[in-house]
Amino acid sequence: MDRVTLDGIVAEVEGYMDRDTSCLWDQEGLQSASHYCDPAWLVREQNVLRGNPVIVGHGSKIKSPGDFFTHDLTGLPILVVRQEDGSVRAMLNICTHRGTRLCTQHQGQGRNFVCPYHAWTFRIDGGLRGMPRPEGFVNVDKSQYGLKQLPCEERHGFVWVVPNPDATIDVAAHLGAALDTELASYGASDLVLEREENLAAEMNWKFVLDGFLEVYHFAKLHAKSIAPYFYGNHSPFHTFGPHGRMVGVRASFAELRGKPKDHIATDALIKHFAVNYMIFPNTVLVWQGDHFESWTAFPGERPDRCVTHIQSITPPSMAQPEFEGKWQRNWKILTGTVVAEDWAVSQTIQRSAHAMPNDRIIFGRNEPGLQHFHSQLTLAANATD
Ligand code: FES
Ligand SMILES: [Fe+2]
Repeated sequence: MDRVTLDGIVAEVEGYMDRDTSCLWDQEGLQSASHYCDPAWLVREQNVLRGNPVIVGHGSKIKSPGDFFTHDLTGLPILVVRQEDGSVRAMLNICTHRGTRLCTQHQGQGRNFVCPYHAWTFRIDGGLRGMPRPEGFVNVDKSQYGLKQLPCEERHGFVWVVPNPDATIDVAAHLGAALDTELASYGASDLVLEREENLAAEMNWKFVLDGFLEVYHFAKLHAKSIAPYFYGNHSPFHTFGPHGRMVGVRASFAELRGKPKDHIATDALIKHFAVNYMIFPNTVLVWQGDHFESWTAFPGERPDRCVTHIQSITPPSMAQPEFEGKWQRNWKILTGTVVAEDWAVSQTIQRSAHAMPNDRIIFGRNEPGLQHFHSQLTLAANATD
């Protein structure tokens, strides 16, 4: 984040503190509770996910040509491979002979991909190299039997894919110039994956994002965990097209309130905040002062199932064995709080969503992040008709 933007956020936070308030939108926002439990609505949301760039992993885990990982959370089996020229390709992980899952590992390195069924062999760019007993396939044009390519781009360190072979991809355009520039300001392309995990939960995928888009729940739900470290109010929220940025204010900001801050370096000043980016449609990316955490939520086959891909992205100097203990503790607190507190309460909402009076839930004026996320998603989902 550049200094002008950060100074603006600091002034906004101090204004909210002086008036004991928060970013308030003009109106409350109403939302149909069925969006958490209706299978027909889920189909529309899945179409939204198939029409947008989604984060499938971090580029730093495939550094050398032939390094690959697989991803299975979008509804398509995806194989992501680093190429000879340094670029990244994503392809359907489906053998073009008879459809076997080609690569069975989660991650690895290779010069070829050999199908486990009849040993058709594919190059790292997806081209069909050959097959045993080629006399059985004399009429096959090998150039037409390469792996199906998916729109794929590496940007801000992440690998983004539109899970639809017929789509195109332009992540910078998707983010818009302002958000694209702001993410670049963290030096995101130079950061590396420190650890990652997929967590399944019996709840709708949107709850994962909901938990990061307001601090109104901190005082009660997180009273015994993180509430002492954050204000449960005073949070600015700004939109970037369909995306958004909510700033959580750490308790440490109290010591700076009302004092000059010009002498404090930007990197030090921003440590008093947790900067939560909602990257439409299914990621929350949190700048934690010296590293990113990302939470990318994928719907399951039912409205009440999801899997979340969580990543910790750090400077290379901090992704070293001597910091293992720090990151392990951090991960335990982070996932422990979210799973035991946020997701536990979300699952109670999931179980009662079908019975919600008037099929209505309400987002407060002080929950603009939720209003924005849900209204943007509803717009996009309705546009898939
Ligand atoms: S299905 Fe892959 S080689 Fe036959
Ligand atoms: Fe929470």
